[in-house]
Amino acid sequence: MADLAVKPLHGRFAVAINDLDLRDVRADYLYPEIRNAFEEHSLLLFRGQQLDDESHTQLAKLFGPLENREQLAGHDEPFKVSAVSNVESDGSLTPKEALRHLDQQANMLWHTDSTFLSTPALVNLLMATVTPSTGGQTEFTTTRAAFDDAPAELQALLRCSFGVHQLTHSRNQVDARLIDLPHVSRWPDRPWRFVWPNPINGREAIYTASHAYAVDGMSADEGAAFVTDLLAHCTKPQYRYTHEWTVGDVLIWDERAVLHRGRPWPYDEPRTLKSICCSATAVDGLAAVQGRA
Ligand code: OGA
Ligand code: MN
Repeated sequence: MADLAVKPLHGRFAVAINDLDLRDVRADYLYPEIRNAFEEHSLLLFRGQQLDDESHTQLAKLFGPLENREQLAGHDEPFKVSAVSNVESDGSLTPKEALRHLDQQANMLWHTDSTFLSTPALVNLLMATVTPSTGGQTEFTTTRAAFDDAPAELQALLRCSFGVHQLTHSRNQVDARLIDLPHVSRWPDRPWRFVWPNPINGREAIYTASHAYAVDGMSADEGAAFVTDLLAHCTKPQYRYTHEWTVGDVLIWDERAVLHRGRPWPYDEPRTLKSICCSATAVDGLAAVQGRA
């Protein structure tokens, strides 16, 4: 296997991988090394990339099945790369009062992608194509370190408990009107265990999100307080890496072991990130977070 040029970005997770063009990656060339780094470091940064939608999609496919929410909702729609953007199709900027803007504001709550779907995401491959003059960072925390540092009693409780996730819960924290939007209200409750062990190296990580609102076996109030406290623990400053975007940066992160959120920027400036998530599968240890009785 080739050696990757790896530089740490944080003491406990996250590395930059230099001198590599992601367009060259194939299943049997560089992907095995990148996948090893993904399992080990949870967040990978590649600078100066030039992925178009096609090469971005080819790269993502190496990680697993492309997440197509329309298909998961029963609609026969082809896969599309998602734009996380305040630029509308006519080139104008999304008005601040628009529901679409508010919907994207929910990305600024600490979350894990797609925990409200029947199959959650393994990975997000996010590339910056337009960046604002200031702000608009994406922040990450390592929930593996947060698990390791948790008291043994909490670790034991997390291992045997299920959080209940629903997209309406995170959207409701931004604006109650969002929960009636069809693409928000269509997903039912999804229970996931609070610990996702990595099947390759056995490292355990806390699995939660802004979409989690209840805990099996706890009252509504108790469960709500539990998920709030858990998120506060996972997002302590010592677990965070803040990424300042430059056009061409690609971040690839392990949804099983990090939380993330976007940061505000002057909304009269455009910002566009291109995102592809792949769904988790059996080889990613999916069964370990499933299985509520
Ligand atoms: C995402 C996301 C945050 C951001 O693409 O899943 O949460 O900084 N993005 O835009
Ligand atoms: Mn996200």
